[in-house]
Amino acid sequence: MVPNALVDSMVGIRALNKIWMDGDLVDWDEAQIHVLSHGLHYGYAVFEGIRCHRTDRWSAVFRLPEHIERFVNSAKVYRMRLPFDADALNQGCVDLIRANGIPEAYLRPIAFSGYGEMGLDPTKSAVHVAIGMWEWPAYLGAENVERGVRATVSSWVRIDSRSLPPQAKCAANYANSALAKMEAVSGGYDEAILLNSAGMVAEGPGENIFRVKKGVVSTPPASSGILRGITRDSVIRIVRDEGIEFQRTDFTREELFTSDELFYAGTAAGITPIREVDGRPIGSGTYPITGHLRKIYEDAIHGRSPKYAAWLTPVPKASTASAEPAVKTEIRRGPVATRSRR
Ligand SMILES: Cc1ncc(COP(=O)(O)O)c(C=O)c1O
Repeated sequence: MVPNALVDSMVGIRALNKIWMDGDLVDWDEAQIHVLSHGLHYGYAVFEGIRCHRTDRWSAVFRLPEHIERFVNSAKVYRMRLPFDADALNQGCVDLIRANGIPEAYLRPIAFSGYGEMGLDPTKSAVHVAIGMWEWPAYLGAENVERGVRATVSSWVRIDSRSLPPQAKCAANYANSALAKMEAVSGGYDEAILLNSAGMVAEGPGENIFRVKKGVVSTPPASSGILRGITRDSVIRIVRDEGIEFQRTDFTREELFTSDELFYAGTAAGITPIREVDGRPIGSGTYPITGHLRKIYEDAIHGRSPKYAAWLTPVPKASTASAEPAVKTEIRRGPVATRSRR
């Protein structure tokens, strides 16, 4: 096994105490799978990315039921029979945070076809479910949250639902994302913007995209071939609550360049402005609307906003990390009613 110290230096993951694996909290180093696991070979895995944040009640998970609902739906698209229901998965996330004693982290539920059979019919392999977590600062760089990132339009076209359904968060989709990301980074940019097969803007490799023009906020519709982001949904709700005009509409590559503001929105990246696309500075270099929306979003995720309290699943601290994981937390059943339609 690769020693943790080496892993830490390679990828920045700091080992924590526990991983939730098939219903049990197991020691971090024990959370292993066979190298011939089916999902590793064919990308047959669905996953989620969720964050918990420090609040005055210790920690809270942002929109946990919505993330778990998307996870269950991703599995359904892929005919993957999950051996755990949504309630058990919600509880697993809460138990894991308490067992690790870390209030601010990124959680990664993943379901995959395991060891036993090879070949392209995954239904012959048992489905396993794990939830890992690690400390992950702003994905596009803490310094870029204020000043914005430099983006490039990718030569890779976003997958679409005729090939790989983008609304199911399948590991295989991320080969497309990785190609775009590597191209952007090797060209000296921070992040990519993918167009869809019709040539319209779709999204980033791991984030949705928003445009601001003459005070109107817009984002591409689900039919543009995007993942329907939960941050995207939250931003749409905040935009409407703030009385800002909103449109769910396609936009072109050249409309990126002529935007007043552009920003990425996603669980990993949060709300991060885009300051430049392919050498064209975006707007005036200030992000008044993006900054306003980000402030409200940050208040919501950290439990400072009574208006959006229903988005949070509070997690009380365990008296001793790893010794006392199980607590029946009040977890909202099902998503909040405000979920935007598309
Ligand atoms: C391709 C893609 N688009 C958009 C998003 C943003 O989704 P969310 O806000 O639910 O994290 C993600 C992240 O999960 C993603 O991987």
